Amino acid sequence: MARGKAKEGDGNWKKFIWNSEKKEFLGRTGGSWFKILLFYLIFYGCLAGIFIGTIQVMLLTISEYEPKYQDRVAPPGLTVVPQVLKTEVSFSISDPKTYEEYVEGLNRFLKNYDNSQQTDEMIFDDCPEKPHDYITRGAFNNAQGQKKVCRFRREWLENCSGILDSSYGYKDGKPCVVVKLNRILGFKPKPPLNDSLPPEMMGKYNPYVLPVHCFPKKEEDVDKIGTVEYYGLGGYAGFPLQYYPYYGKLLQPKYLQPLMAVQFTNLTYDTEVRVECKVYGENIHYSDKDRFQGRFEVKFDIKSS
Ligand SMILES: *[C@@H]1O[C@H](CO)[C@@H](O)[C@H](O)[C@H]1NC(C)=O
Ligand SMILES: *[C@@H]1O[C@H](CO)[C@@H](O)[C@H](O)[C@H]1NC(C)=O
Ligand SMILES: *[C@@H]1O[C@H](CO)[C@@H](O)[C@H](O)[C@H]1NC(C)=O
Repeated sequence: MARGKAKEGDGNWKKFIWNSEKKEFLGRTGGSWFKILLFYLIFYGCLAGIFIGTIQVMLLTISEYEPKYQDRVAPPGLTVVPQVLKTEVSFSISDPKTYEEYVEGLNRFLKNYDNSQQTDEMIFDDCPEKPHDYITRGAFNNAQGQKKVCRFRREWLENCSGILDSSYGYKDGKPCVVVKLNRILGFKPKPPLNDSLPPEMMGKYNPYVLPVHCFPKKEEDVDKIGTVEYYGLGGYAGFPLQYYPYYGKLLQPKYLQPLMAVQFTNLTYDTEVRVECKVYGENIHYSDKDRFQGRFEVKFDIKSS
């Protein structure tokens, strides 16, 4: 019984695949299959068309050179070089091996700022050597080709330039850190209003500089931080405006961010000293979630022997 039914089923199955009487394949005639295939071809063709069209329109309204949604960009972060693990700078003055990695990190980073890297007159521009207003270089497109970039002289970092002292102060227990503001295409950092600055910074106020200041992180660090020296263009402790806006890596592939350096010349040794450095500006913000937005922290632990 069961076998008979199976046989009958087999027959139906074969008949279903190819019914020679009605000339049907899988229950449909050739014409019917053709219509179905045609329908799906057109259907998916239209879907693909809509999809591609949407992307094309989107691309047309986006420039390769200028960000469309600039207001969504997070405010810039402040980066410290050498980039240290857990933001701790820990070494022993008597053992050069312990600070070798910091010195090498600084050497690597500052190499791009060597004079020998900035000789091409077609690319580099001598901008004012004292703080100056923004230098705009036309629209954010390549109608005039690439844009020039301002030179930044390594010498301006003085005792932290690695030129006068190839150990950047580390061999004397006076460590330097170099500070940069992360680049954001088209961003024009606005200097702070002068009355929003901590009083100890008022003396060095300049309307064309975003100043950087370092201070003890906690009450217990106040007596340990010692003297802090700042180096930067024109002797100002900050980022001058003539280096902004940045036109992006397509238009300014050799762009050099302005740098400034901080040297701690009288830190207390054999103890942890926590320092926080901040950049000040009207459109610079700090966030509790992002500890590098507009500021950074370093913990020094220097062994005197
Ligand atoms: C820079 O280094 C030189 C030589 O060590 C020293 O005489 C000078 O006081 C230093 N400058 C500052 C601002 O600390
Ligand atoms: C701050 O700026 C105002 C106007 O911009 C000016 O009148 C004032 O003298 C400035 N204060 C200092 C301490 O520079
Ligand atoms: C360095 O700091 C100590 C206190 O920690 C102080 O007695 C000394 O005068 C400071 N030296 C300089 C050159 O400021």
